[in-house]
Amino acid sequence: MKNEWFQKKIKELSSLQGYQKPEKQSEALKLDSNENFVINKQFQRDLIDGAKKISDVREYPLGRIEKLIEALSKNLKVSPSMIGVGNGSDQILDLLLVNFCSKKTRILTSDPTFGFFEERCKLYSIPTIKIPFSKDMTLDLENFLSKSKNADLLYLDSPNNPTGFQFPKKDLEKLIKNFDGPVIIDEAYVEFGDYSVLNMVKSQSNLIVVRTFSKEFGLAGLRLGYFVANKAIADVFTRIIQYPYPLNTIAIEAGILALQKSKIMSDAATLIKKERKRIIENLRKTNAFEVFDSKANFVLFDAKGAERRIYTALVEQGISIRKLGKIGKHQGCLRVTVGTKEMNSKFLLAIRDLLQ
Ligand SMILES: Cc1ncc(COP(=O)(O)O)c(C=O)c1O
Repeated sequence: MKNEWFQKKIKELSSLQGYQKPEKQSEALKLDSNENFVINKQFQRDLIDGAKKISDVREYPLGRIEKLIEALSKNLKVSPSMIGVGNGSDQILDLLLVNFCSKKTRILTSDPTFGFFEERCKLYSIPTIKIPFSKDMTLDLENFLSKSKNADLLYLDSPNNPTGFQFPKKDLEKLIKNFDGPVIIDEAYVEFGDYSVLNMVKSQSNLIVVRTFSKEFGLAGLRLGYFVANKAIADVFTRIIQYPYPLNTIAIEAGILALQKSKIMSDAATLIKKERKRIIENLRKTNAFEVFDSKANFVLFDAKGAERRIYTALVEQGISIRKLGKIGKHQGCLRVTVGTKEMNSKFLLAIRDLLQ
C-alpha cells in the first residue's frame, strides 16, 4: 500500500500537541499574548494607509524586501548583507530549524522556553536539552556552560517568554563566546529588557539574533520578523532558503514606514516598563501571589493554587490573561501582558476585588 507511509505520518503528527493559542474572547481586555496596545490604533491605521497608497498588490513585491532590509540596516547600524527577514520571527525560527537541524542536532535551551520553538523541535524530532529555571525563575549560567559541551545549537529567548528573565549581560556574552556551534538569541522582547547582544554579531560568526515588529512596534498582525547574523548565514537564508516573495506588499511597506517612527516605539517601551513595575508592585502587595521580576512586556506570577479561580473570574469580567500552570517548582502560573495604563488598572482592580 503506497499510501501507508502517509497515513502513518498523519497519525504521528496528529499525536503532537501543537502550539497552544489563547482562547479568543470577543470584546475581552486582551492581556494574554504579549501584544503591544500602548502603540495606539491610529498609528497602525496611518501605517496601513501609507502602505496602501504606495502599493499595487497586483504585482509581486519585486525589490521591496531589499528596501525593507535597507531601512532595517539604517536603523540597526549593521550592513544589509547581515540581515534576513521573515513572515514573523516564528517563520524565521522555523526555517532555521528545518534547514539547519536534523534528528541528530541537540539543541540546548531553557525550560520553559518559547513554546512555538519547543513545539517546532518536537515536530521535526529535534532533540532538546533543557535547563530548568530555579525556584526564583532565574537561570544558572554554570549549568548552561557545562551542558553546552553536549549540545550542537543553543537557543535562548532573551528576555525569556514566559518568565521575563534575562541573563546579566556578561553571563549571556560568556555563554555565546563559549558555545561551540550556532547560537540563536531570540530578542522578541529586547526593547523592554536591559540590553541587546546585536553588536556581538560583528565579532561572533556563530550568532543569529532574531527580532520582531510584533512587540516593540505593536504590529503582531502584520507578521514581520527579521534577524541579524554573519554575512554567510544571511546570504544563504535570503538567496536559497527564503525566496522569492515571502512577505506581502502591505507588510513590507508598513514595516518601512514604521522604522521611520522609532521615537513612538521608544516612548511606548518606556511607558510599558513603568507600568510593568506598577503591576509587579501591586501584585506583590496583595501577598497572595509569588510575583517574578520581568524584563519583558508581561509579568509572570504563581497564584499558589488559586490560578483557576483567578483566571476564570477574570474571564467573567472580560479580562483575558494566560493560564500556564506548572513551571518548574511553581504549580499555578499565570502570565499577564502589560497593556495601556487603563487596561492595567482594570486588571489590578479586578484582582483586588477578587481577593476581598
Ligand atoms: C520569544 C518569542 N519569540 C518570537 C515570538 C514570535 O514573534 P512573531 O510575532 O514575530 O512571530 C514570540 C511571540 O510571542 C515570542 O514570545
